[in-house]
Amino acid sequence: MSGSMPASVPVPETAADAAFDFASLLAPGLPPPAVRWNGFAKYNFVGGHNDAAQVPVDDLVAAATAVLRREGATLATYGLQSGPFGYRPLREFLAAKLKRTAGMTCTADDILITSGSLQALDLVNGILLQRGDTIITEGDTYQGAINRWSRLGVNAVGIALDRDGMRMDALAAALDDLQHRGIRAKYIYTVPTVQNPTGTILPEARRVELLRLSRQYGVPIFEDDCYADLIWDGQRPPALYAMSPQGGVIHIGSFSKSIAPALRVGYIVAEWPQLARMLAIKSDAGSGALEQMVLGEYCPAHFETHVPALTRGLRAKLDTLMDALNEQFGTAAEFDEPKGGIFLWVKLPDAVDTLKLFQRALADGIAINPGAEWSTDAAHGKSWMRLCFANPSSQAIRAGIAALAEVCRHEFGVPDRIANVQQKAKG
Ligand SMILES: Cc1ncc(COP(=O)(O)O)c(C=O)c1O
Repeated sequence: MSGSMPASVPVPETAADAAFDFASLLAPGLPPPAVRWNGFAKYNFVGGHNDAAQVPVDDLVAAATAVLRREGATLATYGLQSGPFGYRPLREFLAAKLKRTAGMTCTADDILITSGSLQALDLVNGILLQRGDTIITEGDTYQGAINRWSRLGVNAVGIALDRDGMRMDALAAALDDLQHRGIRAKYIYTVPTVQNPTGTILPEARRVELLRLSRQYGVPIFEDDCYADLIWDGQRPPALYAMSPQGGVIHIGSFSKSIAPALRVGYIVAEWPQLARMLAIKSDAGSGALEQMVLGEYCPAHFETHVPALTRGLRAKLDTLMDALNEQFGTAAEFDEPKGGIFLWVKLPDAVDTLKLFQRALADGIAINPGAEWSTDAAHGKSWMRLCFANPSSQAIRAGIAALAEVCRHEFGVPDRIANVQQKAKG
């Protein structure tokens, strides 16, 4: 080596020199491009954000320091000293916690740590779904799941919900109908314990029936339990996974809702033959290790006291939100009280198209989730909206709902009374 820099060879100019044209090179079938992020709305009722005041920062700092001092050198190897399933102490904590709270009998070896439970969705979909397949789901459900099915070209059959979650008569009818048409669904996706967006909990008797139908029709269950820690009275039925020792259930969960979503730590509980398939397509050489180590250190000491405190704070915010809606929208906003979680699913009068309301409200700094995006049947979701109450302060909840009522009345003429003051008729 001479040590001197090689002379740079100028790249010849071409006609297209102004800007390189990637558009003509893009792979076919990509989803529409993302929009650039411009910061959060002033009144932010969207997404699954958590309460900033309740992130246990000091204890996380202490956990990070302790675990890095003790085991930091293990970061030298992919997968630490735990292998591709993720940080073993965290998986051991999860096995004990899932036994205690959800009645699940599993060991650390039945748990695969993922980058958020979104990666868990991708891995389960990755081993089971192909274009043209059919799955069954609660009719109103998580947008992240709906988007994945539509991108994969998978037909999602939505099942009606009531105050106790997925209706088993409707599920039986759908399974029967599919069978008559010679279609075997690949799975029944359900968020049975604090459903997104409805906040319902599927009672134990329905769980028994769901498992019976799953076996009768040979369709496995995909159980997404990511809100299961956030229940007001702390009472929950056993997980479907726990109720089916003979298998047929894949269970996923997350630390996003119980600790913090930006950590990006989720997990899958399944039997080895399914996990072995998922591991073979998990192409990231392991999910981020530092956050797993911090959680593995933090959770055994603090999870059990942190979660009830978090839940109490969320419940207080829900009360503020329901109060603000009653005050500002009166009877124009209908909702059932959720059993836990971070969302309220709200029905506005039929005249209100919440996709339009969403656009108008956003222009005024109020972000809501339009129901059409949270339903397998967009027409059914048209006048619904989902409000996340975890992130805004109580003051912001009150001010944001007042501002939303203003926008809604201006656009749609409802609510006709705001804050118990009769408004002038529109027009
Ligand atoms: C039902 C459900 N599943 C999965 C996720 C994904 O969460 P994460 O990837 O943060 O674990 C969410 C997020 O809001 C959700 O609501």
